[in-house]
Amino acid sequence: MKQVELLKNKATEQLVHEVDVGIHVVDLNGTTIIYNKKMAQIEGMNQLDVLNKKLVDVFSFHKNEDSTLLQALKNGEPIKNVKQTYFNNRGQEITTINHTIPIMDGRKRIGAMEIARDVTKLEKLLRENMNRKNDTYYTFDSIIGKSPAIREVIEASKRATRTNSSVLIIGDTGTGKELFAQSIHNGSGRSSASFISQNCAALPDNLIEGLLFGTKKGAFTGAIDRPGLFEQAEGGTLLLDEINSLNPSLQAKLLRVIQEKTVRRVGDTKDKKIDVRILATMNEDPIDAISEGRLRKDLYYRLSVVTLFIPPLRNRKEDIYELAYAFVQKYNHLFGLNVTLIHDNVLQTFMQYDWPGNVRELEHIIEGALNVITYENEISYNHLPMHFRKKIHIKPGTQKNNPQEVTASELQPLDKHMEEAEIDYLKQALQQFNFNITKTAEALRMSRQNLQYRLKKYGIRNHRDGSSGPK
Ligand SMILES: Nc1ncnc2c1ncn2[C@@H]1O[C@H](COP(=O)(O)OP(=O)(O)OP(=O)(O)O)[C@@H](O)[C@H]1O
Ligand SMILES: [Mg+2]
Repeated sequence: MKQVELLKNKATEQLVHEVDVGIHVVDLNGTTIIYNKKMAQIEGMNQLDVLNKKLVDVFSFHKNEDSTLLQALKNGEPIKNVKQTYFNNRGQEITTINHTIPIMDGRKRIGAMEIARDVTKLEKLLRENMNRKNDTYYTFDSIIGKSPAIREVIEASKRATRTNSSVLIIGDTGTGKELFAQSIHNGSGRSSASFISQNCAALPDNLIEGLLFGTKKGAFTGAIDRPGLFEQAEGGTLLLDEINSLNPSLQAKLLRVIQEKTVRRVGDTKDKKIDVRILATMNEDPIDAISEGRLRKDLYYRLSVVTLFIPPLRNRKEDIYELAYAFVQKYNHLFGLNVTLIHDNVLQTFMQYDWPGNVRELEHIIEGALNVITYENEISYNHLPMHFRKKIHIKPGTQKNNPQEVTASELQPLDKHMEEAEIDYLKQALQQFNFNITKTAEALRMSRQNLQYRLKKYGIRNHRDGSSGPK
């Protein structure tokens, strides 16, 4: 019998430290009797700094009553699934979700026990994602570039400011999707209301759902009454970045919100009317995303009322010069410099380069150059960041500053080659059918929509309009 008692005691003692939840037991005075390892980890404490001390001497709460342990001690009632935010003795903020239970000896209360799960990180993530409102700074004046390709997108975007239709902005990374989205908002009648942008790839499904649509208290463990981004963007614009990363079942919910212009918080039964303009971005071909199941067709049709395709920088190299000088100005201003020139060699290198990171990459290179420049007023090849210089091939034995010797690798990446072949083939086919889209699409066994998307993507224009394409 004694053996059994011993085993029970030992097992309980061990169990307390093996489980993956925090356990904290106080006696009637609020002094800590049991404090497991997990709890110490959650609260960023040393076990010895907490054991045998009074709870309120170690932790601070907004009010002492906020301690769920003390409440359970006082009221003798269990408290379930309550979220608590408090501070450890170093002022570090902690957020947990607790079950707190009074410990009884028959009818006598002798202490209280708390079982806690750590949600500090989750809480921080949600908060960081909640407080971004109206922090736009781009307008159409910020968009640099005179290439026909970029001017065409700017014109289409300006037309889009007059309506409330959804806009789908497609472009590779760094092409300026955010810039266009902000410009549309700021150029529209909604400019004095909120602009909220949310990256759909940044958070796991369950979090993003609550974040977008809001939550009702009790919807799930730790849920509180919280408006979603749709409600927060009321009267304004909501930018959903990387929409193709959103789980398809959430895409269906999103479609319903857009169509019905009402939103229902997770766990709620009531719908709320909303007036929000939706802009969405993606960085891949929507036709591919649909065929590979990443984008719902019905959502695509709804979002693509206006589709803006921002061409990659390599297809509008005539913008490089102006962009490069604009970034020189920007960083002159920021760094207190007075650089006025970019050496021809450098500009030529820029013209030969492929720019996989697009305008953002160009901006970073100029920023990098202005970081190393000392007294010169001209950016030369040697100021360019090493990682960039490594990417462009230089014939051995030649001087780095000699432009003629800076050549690209003889083989180009396969996808670029395929793209060029596709462009040539499309142009050929169009010519054969006298630029009749329906007939050309039929001959190529593709949908009209797919063909039109590709023409837009590559900036191939219908020659029957009398306009000539940028290529
Ligand atoms: N036409 C442009 N004129 C001036 N600056 C530009 C232009 N296009 C892009 N930029 C600048 O390049 C950077 C990247 O732009 P932005 O963030 O809008 O790209 P993005 O398409 O949203 O990229 P990602 O897909 O990676 O999110 C920003 O600093 C932006 O100011
Ligand atoms: Mg972006």
